[in-house]
Amino acid sequence: MSSRSPDPNRTASTSGIRREPFGTTADGRAVERFTLASASGVTISVLSFGGVIQSILVPDRSGKPVDVTLGYDTLAEYEKDKSYLGALVGRYANRIRAGRFSLDGRDFTLAQNAGGNHLHGGTRGFNKAVWTVEPFEDGDDLGLALQHVSPDGDEGYPGTLRVRVTYRLTTNGELAIDFSATTDAATPVNLTQHAYFNLAGSGSGDILGHVLELNASRFTPVDATLIPTGELRSVRGTPFDFSTPETVGARIGEDDEQLRLAGGYDHTFVLDRSAANELALAARLTDPTSRRGIDIYTTEPGIQFYTGNFLDGTVMGKGGVPHRYRSGLALETQHFPNSPNEPAFPSTILHPGTEHRSRTVYHFVVRD
Ligand code: GLA
Repeated sequence: MSSRSPDPNRTASTSGIRREPFGTTADGRAVERFTLASASGVTISVLSFGGVIQSILVPDRSGKPVDVTLGYDTLAEYEKDKSYLGALVGRYANRIRAGRFSLDGRDFTLAQNAGGNHLHGGTRGFNKAVWTVEPFEDGDDLGLALQHVSPDGDEGYPGTLRVRVTYRLTTNGELAIDFSATTDAATPVNLTQHAYFNLAGSGSGDILGHVLELNASRFTPVDATLIPTGELRSVRGTPFDFSTPETVGARIGEDDEQLRLAGGYDHTFVLDRSAANELALAARLTDPTSRRGIDIYTTEPGIQFYTGNFLDGTVMGKGGVPHRYRSGLALETQHFPNSPNEPAFPSTILHPGTEHRSRTVYHFVVRD
């Protein structure tokens, strides 16, 4: 499938960074919004609250921009959000069984905020923090450097964790996200960006017609509480085989145990890669009608593919349009869920004196 970046000549826009107040949280923290408009025609807006990507405007072939990510209009809605729309997620993205793990002979208990398990950093994860944000321009790139300090004992985690995330928007329509962290005591760390995509436009319908390709020959089957069983299972001959492009909805209704347990796709795919930690293509997503696409590259070993099975239309999104069932999908680059309890999974433990680093790139394209 050939593709190209949005054509700047068709999408004349003023490029640059705009900074504005975005209200105050219920507990009195001031929040700002930053809008990065690149010459590619891709424009993103980011909140200091949760490091949330509130909107991503991507032009189609005729230059018409559409917002391809789910979100809300107001800060109060982000404070109430339980779907992690557009947010930075940590300390540990995804689930840890019963919120328990042991490390160096000590037992730790984390917040159990999802059916007895720990999910996405706990009851007040990084998605509810107000980050310190510094805008920057580097050549033609527009960027934001976000920082957050998670204190020792935060949601039950050991050690003070200093986290830095940068969003960098290039003139080529790429959004590069760099995660880094250091700690003063060993702790699990698994950071991700939780944007939901709908390439036909947020609020336009469901994502079942999107075409997906995943560079993954295996996935992590789960138990009834969505914790991986520990097996890395081949996708071959199952509805989890996206090694060649398939529509998201083609097999989602099949009578398959794993689809039944998760109510659709909500699984980590094990990325095929020739070298660990190398930036490699993980996923290609396309809306066949508008031909908008995203190519996702990452250094992470896995990607969680989630089809918005918990969205139920009861929560209003941007423009007062409800977030309906499967109206957006997430492709969260990350380590595998429950790794602190699975010695055979790639380690997520960060030690003092070392630095956690990972990179994910969303390349917004228009397919030919
Ligand atoms: C992730 C999880 C899902 C769900 C969503 C948030 O994608 O895998 O199970 O918890 O976050 O609603």
